Amino acid sequence: MKKVGVLISGRGSNLQALIDAQARLGAYEIALVVSNVADAGGLARAEAAGIATRMIEHRAFGKDRERFERAIDAILRAAGIEIVALAGFMRVLTPYFVNAWRDKILNIHPSLLPAFPGRDTHARALEAGVKLHGCTVHLVREAVDDGPILGQAAIAVTPEDTPESLAARLLPVEHALYPLCLAAFAGGNVQPAAFPLALNFWVPAKPR
Ligand code: GRF
Repeated sequence: MKKVGVLISGRGSNLQALIDAQARLGAYEIALVVSNVADAGGLARAEAAGIATRMIEHRAFGKDRERFERAIDAILRAAGIEIVALAGFMRVLTPYFVNAWRDKILNIHPSLLPAFPGRDTHARALEAGVKLHGCTVHLVREAVDDGPILGQAAIAVTPEDTPESLAARLLPVEHALYPLCLAAFAGGNVQPAAFPLALNFWVPAKPR
């Protein structure tokens, strides 16, 4: 059973999915949740599940991102964390942290990487006219939203979709994918066939 530390900044729905699946998957244990935002909803979710939480306010470190990350690193190591899972953590990590935890940090990103790294992925996917959109779980490297891909799940884009509808339809797919990838990565006996890969195509009457 690998000890996982989850870094969050917000509502923590992916954190919740990781918590909810951990007993069933049996390969990882969320031992600590660290937030850089005091009122992140995910902190309450962790507390409700009896998981230790820490708040490290990045603003307290001014522009010194590495010192902020050294504080997080110390907390993770003191808790015996073996794998770091980013779940809506909105700070870009420096090469210091990425290399200190190389091959031990996972991230979930709401697009089919390498398409649409960065923000506003749903709007950009619609703008590009893609017919498949999705989410990616990957190992973290120095470049943002880059790194070896562990798993992806896809949904069909329909002509009616808006950035909001895509986000709403993709979120439960993220929640299915992330625990499976984390468990597989942690060394559990997770079958890739169990991945919720949905390959659907919508052929437009009028290409846009
Ligand atoms: C998710 O869409 C995730 O893919 C992205 O940030 C969002 C976090 O949502 N990295 P939540 O805090 O897990 O609800």
